[in-house]
Amino acid sequence: MTLKTGRGRGHGKLILCGEHAVVYGHPAIAFAVDRCTRVTAHPQPGPLDVVCELDNPGLRMATAQIFGDQGWRVEIDTDVPLGRGMGSSAALAVALAEAHAHATSGDTSHPALMDAAMPVERHFHGNPSGLDVAVALHRKPMRFLRGPPMAWTPLRPCPWPLVVLDSQIQGHTRELVDHVQAQRPIVDPILNAIGELVDKVASALDNPEIVGPLVSENHRLLQALGVSTPELDHLVDLSLRHGALGAKLAGAGGGGVVFALMRTHADARALCDVANEAGVVAWTCQAL
Ligand code: MEV
Repeated sequence: MTLKTGRGRGHGKLILCGEHAVVYGHPAIAFAVDRCTRVTAHPQPGPLDVVCELDNPGLRMATAQIFGDQGWRVEIDTDVPLGRGMGSSAALAVALAEAHAHATSGDTSHPALMDAAMPVERHFHGNPSGLDVAVALHRKPMRFLRGPPMAWTPLRPCPWPLVVLDSQIQGHTRELVDHVQAQRPIVDPILNAIGELVDKVASALDNPEIVGPLVSENHRLLQALGVSTPELDHLVDLSLRHGALGAKLAGAGGGGVVFALMRTHADARALCDVANEAGVVAWTCQAL
């Protein structure tokens, strides 16, 4: 095998609607955002050397899963916040898989990278639907079905201004997914309602005035599933009181971020200012 320097990239994501229900075969809609993880891998004799500003044992574990524990220096650079429901583990898994495929002259097709990245995502989260990896890889808005077979349909870009508000609390996807699983079949009507809501959103994607309230309705259903927290509910309320068309937690919950769908960029900046003045870490965000 010829080895050379390889590069890879995986994008963070926001789930517009459908998290948790997607694990049980319902559809979800998600899009990649303008934050990503980049990996550069250099062949180098000796033990695996992982170089990253972040000191996180998960980074090394994932890198060793793809590269093995010898023969590489792997540099990781990311601006996807870790453990915030923005797909940091999937972005890392995809970036590592792509860098490894480039560096070893392996198969860089999307199906091959999906196959290489999914075991890493499973190691992090136990029973992931594959949605986060699909978005990190394809970098497009999509309607996703877990299957089998796994299927995703590209959607038109979602050009709405968005604000991300960070609870600064780490969410634990595996625990949250297990928590929902443990409540089945009692929570199945809520999961079904989320699936139906996703179809309504899919048919209204042109109209943020319709999508916004559906996004907030999705948050209420996630509250009913028991995956929201008082901090996330507070950030949703703050967003709705300051001009958001809709707002919800993003990802597994239990912490992480809320995102707010705004009418205009001026509205988005105004919400950011209000949030920042209230001591909340918030930033404007763009869907790809
Ligand atoms: C996590 O980003 C989304 C969940 O639906 C889990 C998954 O789809 O694997 C909670």
